[in-house]
Amino acid sequence: MRRFLLFLLLAFAIAQFVRPDTTNPTRDPANDLIAVTHPSAEVTALLRAACYDCHSHETRYPWYVSITPVNWWMQHHVDEGREEFNMSEWGARKAKWQRHKAEESVEMVKKREMPLDSYTWGHPEARLTDAQRQALASYFSGLVSALPGGKDDRAGSREHEDH
Ligand code: HEC
Repeated sequence: MRRFLLFLLLAFAIAQFVRPDTTNPTRDPANDLIAVTHPSAEVTALLRAACYDCHSHETRYPWYVSITPVNWWMQHHVDEGREEFNMSEWGARKAKWQRHKAEESVEMVKKREMPLDSYTWGHPEARLTDAQRQALASYFSGLVSALPGGKDDRAGSREHEDH
């Protein structure tokens, strides 16, 4: 038993040398969601506190990111989050994509699916109140309406009916 524990300890120690790459990729600040869409100060703070760590190139890693295997698990969420919806690349994407992501975000925020529970355990500032969820949802649905093909765009909705 002692040998086995010693083995585990050694394996854990060696694993510390195997870490994922946690450097933030470069970004063009001009394409950033907040820079392009100018949300209110409240919504800006909520986006930064509850979404940007996984959905942007401005991830702030906690100290425990230095621990293997926590870091791999965390980096996996960041990679997946960026792949699904990278808020740092908002301005570089087509209106159709933007509208789709804004619509999905309304859903995710209302249904309490985002931010992920595993994130709010360690980030109390990301535990959103109903009012904060409402503020984020109205911000994202405002984006949907303002984009071509959105609720208030008649040409866009006609186009939608045609298909
Ligand atoms: C801990 C990391 C993390 C945080 C924080 C986070 N997300 Fe996500 N998000 C993910 C991951 C991982 C996925 C892809 C897998 C999934 O859908 O669960 C995702 C998927 C999404 C999607 C696509 C959903 C779909 O239908 O495929 C949207 C939209 C989204 N997130 C919006 C947000 C918004 C808005 C916030 C802030 C309120 C947020 N997320 C916070 C990790 C995160």
